[in-house]
This record gives sequence, C-alpha cells and structure tokens, in this order.
Amino acid sequence: MDSKHNVAGMRWLWNVLSLKSRFGFNSHLERGHRWDPAEFHLTGVRFVERMIERFDEYGRVEASRAQLLEIGCGVGRFMRPLACRFKHVTGIDISRVMLSRARRYCAGLPNITTVLNDGASIPLPDNSVDYCVSAGVFQHITDGAVVVNYIREALRVLAPGGLFLFQFEGNRTAAIGHNQTGARISAMLLDTGLVGTAYRIREISLDPKDAIRCVVIVLEKPLTGSEVAAAERSFSTWPMSERRWLSGVYDDVQTRTQMHARQAQAPMKLTFYED
Ligand SMILES: C[S@@+](CC[C@H](N)C(=O)[O-])C[C@H]1O[C@@H](n2cnc3c(N)ncnc32)[C@H](O)[C@@H]1O
Repeated sequence: MDSKHNVAGMRWLWNVLSLKSRFGFNSHLERGHRWDPAEFHLTGVRFVERMIERFDEYGRVEASRAQLLEIGCGVGRFMRPLACRFKHVTGIDISRVMLSRARRYCAGLPNITTVLNDGASIPLPDNSVDYCVSAGVFQHITDGAVVVNYIREALRVLAPGGLFLFQFEGNRTAAIGHNQTGARISAMLLDTGLVGTAYRIREISLDPKDAIRCVVIVLEKPLTGSEVAAAERSFSTWPMSERRWLSGVYDDVQTRTQMHARQAQAPMKLTFYED
C-alpha cells in the first residue's frame, strides 16, 4: 500500500485503545461506566444474529460446515457467538493486544484461530473460506484504498458462492481520516476501486432507526463462469433497503455506551452516496 497507509501508527493506536478497557474499544463507554460482561456478550450475540439472518438468506453453505473469517475481530465479541454456529472461525486484527484478549475471551472454544495481520491484506489462501464478516472496522480506517484492498482480499479468499458481509458507519466526511476516525466510504469509491474484481451485490441496507447511519453490505463471490450483470455490481445504483442492524442491540443494555448517546442525537448525514 502507499504512504498514506501508516501500519505502525495504526497498530500503535489500536494497541493503546485496547489497553484502555478489558473489552477494548468496543462501543466505548460514557465516562465512569464499565461494561457488564454479560451485556457485552449479549451485544455480540445480537450482532451475530443479524449476520446469520443474511447468511441464511443468501448463503450456500450450512454454517456448521463452514469456514468463517472475521476482519478486525478485536477482543472476540463476535467470534465467540460465531464459533457456536460455524465450523471454524478465524479472526485477524492489526493489534496484538486485541488478539490476546480475544484468545482469553474465547478460551475453551476449540474452533477459533487468531492471526495478526499487516492492516491491509488477508494472510489466507485463495478460495479458503465460505463466509467473511467485518463490522465496526472499516469506519476507522483512514485511507479508503485500504478498505478497497480488504474487499478485494476478502473476495480472493472466499470460495465461489461465498459471502462477505461488512458494516461501517456511512457518516464519515473526510477523504482521508485521522486517528480512529476513518475516511469516507462512498459508493463511487467502491465502484471505481473494485473494477476488475468479480462480485455480485446481494444487499446494501440501512437501519431506519439508526441515527449513526450504519451501512451493511453483502457481496457474493460469483460461481466460476457465472455472468454478473452491470446492475448487480454497481454500488451507486443498487437500491438501498431498510433492514435492522443496530436497533435492538443496545436498547435495553444498562451499561451506558456512547452508542446510547449517539442514537439519542439527531440522525447524522448519510455520506455513502456522495462523491
Ligand atoms: C472498534 S473495534 C471493533 C472490534 C469488533 N469488530 C467488534 O465490533 O467487537 C475495531 C477493531 O479493528 C481493528 N483494526 C483497525 N484497523 C485495522 C486494520 N487496518 N486492519 C485490521 N484490523 C484493524 C482494531 O485493532 C480493533 O480491534
């Protein structure tokens, strides 16, 4: 990757952020609050339910027989519930501290592997996983080219017919981000960045009750030899649907997170369709 991709800086940042609390930088807390561990676990279970809903709808491989990869797994909040459903779960992350916490959080589960990566690529062979997920990660990446590279990499490691579900906050405004505030991810960035890569869009959705404007995208790696029409690969013109993501995850959680405060504010502007 080019010079805008400061791996050492990103690694340092996420190691430091993960040292701030036992559960890392996950839905960071309002001042004076601590995560109730059961509630933290429950938020992971709920997000994983939303992922599995989509995989049941679009996927071809039974979860109990499937290999799943998570990009930016953090302390393993999703890996733990995912490992109860999928045959094997691999979590990659740029932060060694996050990964060591993930191993502790997922202790006792025999079907989990964690891998430290370089912050932009996926150290797995081509066609080796059935499902890939990444949630709450791309919105923190300061260079859109890195996000595009991750999408290309996910499509490389997926087996034909495999699915990549990724979620990010579609509210960023700057072309280049700063610290943990990522660059804007736009339909145009994805359309231009993914030219020459084979994929089919299965879903672009927004939760109508979510003030933060989390966007969920599901891509399919086409079966070998299958044609993909131009309309099925255009992020700019694909119809965005309304579907739950964040709503219901934090609503009854007593641990006060910044998610609660942000959801109570006026809806942020959706910048995904801006050039
Ligand atoms: C806010 S946490 C989310 C963790 C997890 N997905 C969750 O929601 O519980 C963001 C995670 O992404 C990781 N991360 C940030 N930039 C990354 C990059 N370029 N490559 C891989 N991981 C990255 C961080 O180390 C951190 O673990």
